[in-house]
Amino acid sequence: MTTLHVPLDSHAYDVTIEAGARTRTGALLARALGETAGRRILLVADAAVSETHAEVVAASLEAAGFEIAFVTVEATEANKSLEAFEALLKAAAGQKIDRSGAVVSVGGGIICDLAGYVAASWLRGLPVFHVPTTLLAMVDAAIGGKTGVNLPLPDGALGKNLVGAFWQPVGVLSDPEVLETLPERERACGLAECVKHALVADWSLLEALRAEAPDILAGRLSTSMALIARCASTKVAIVSGDEREEAGPGAGVARAFLNLGHTFAHAIEPLPELELKHGEAVAIGLMAAGACAQTLGHWGGAESEALQSTLEACALPITLSQPLKRGRLIDRMGWDKKVRQGTLTIVVPDGRGSVSMVPGPSLELLEAGWAAVGAS
Ligand SMILES: NC(=O)c1ccc[n+]([C@@H]2O[C@H](COP(=O)([O-])OP(=O)(O)OC[C@H]3O[C@@H](n4cnc5c(N)ncnc54)[C@H](O)[C@@H]3O)[C@@H](O)[C@H]2O)c1
Repeated sequence: MTTLHVPLDSHAYDVTIEAGARTRTGALLARALGETAGRRILLVADAAVSETHAEVVAASLEAAGFEIAFVTVEATEANKSLEAFEALLKAAAGQKIDRSGAVVSVGGGIICDLAGYVAASWLRGLPVFHVPTTLLAMVDAAIGGKTGVNLPLPDGALGKNLVGAFWQPVGVLSDPEVLETLPERERACGLAECVKHALVADWSLLEALRAEAPDILAGRLSTSMALIARCASTKVAIVSGDEREEAGPGAGVARAFLNLGHTFAHAIEPLPELELKHGEAVAIGLMAAGACAQTLGHWGGAESEALQSTLEACALPITLSQPLKRGRLIDRMGWDKKVRQGTLTIVVPDGRGSVSMVPGPSLELLEAGWAAVGAS
């Protein structure tokens, strides 16, 4: 078992990583909240795990004395929406979730983000406890308190995570046993965020990923446990240093570093013709950011090759499946929620295991990034 402490001033919490621990969710939530009697829990479950892992979590909560209102959501980006958010708020009202209540999410990043935003909003804020069921959510989405939903944009595609709030969980419980049912393609998506963590703060992790990817893709638990702990601790360290992404360019630790690859990824992820999952879009975004690093002279060929071979070992895409126009993709980057006063900021590697922010990147730099992943 590994316990990572997130030492935030007013709302510190623990991330527990332990095989089989979903059966202890009730005890862990009771410890985080105190008294359980009469507390009603809105349990928001991914429909894909509602009859398996979420049932186990619900039984554990009931055994600890909580009352449960169980709702399921199909985990799609289209469903990470204001409509689904409203439906869950109405469920909270219908189920009489009051101020003594809490929200428990059981699912991947989509459910963490959606349920977290419901918790942030219902009655102006209830505690939320995450039980992530994807590798991606265990190493990234469940930690750090970013919650929210997508919004359709004028070009018809979804704008990623444009509506939301920072709302830290009262605890996170990652039970790697639940990854046994996760499809291999989704395991690969989780590895994309691990590669990002390596580029941001832990260069030697790239080599470990290349060596261990086959085991992780095959769902071997012992390898996943160590990886989850290593990657989750990187995320904990970064969000602990800059909880609300306020540190600007030049900061030693900035939460915005975790946006590495994402400004590119968010431009392509919602495009239906590419059929990309979030982690796959991130993998292509990392390649684009790596190409920018090379253009800027921060990286040489060896670093770019290390990135590419790691992504390939993780069964992740490194180029677009279609030669989309660079101009269109650069326009889409303008909707990124990190744009300030009309200026885009991208994050690029500036060494081995370190990154920096580039405010106002030139058109040529962005074009070089997109060209490297096959845009025309
Ligand atoms: N809040 C944050 O800090 C943060 C960080 C990274 C990503 N995200 C968000 O997370 C989302 C991606 O998360 P994700 O990759 O976990 O995707 P996801 O939530 O869509 O889950 C992936 C798929 O796996 C299924 N699934 C989940 N757990 C399963 C299990 N144990 N067994 C079988 N199937 C299972 C889901 O139903 C879904 O089809 C994106 O919306 C992204 O924007 C948020």
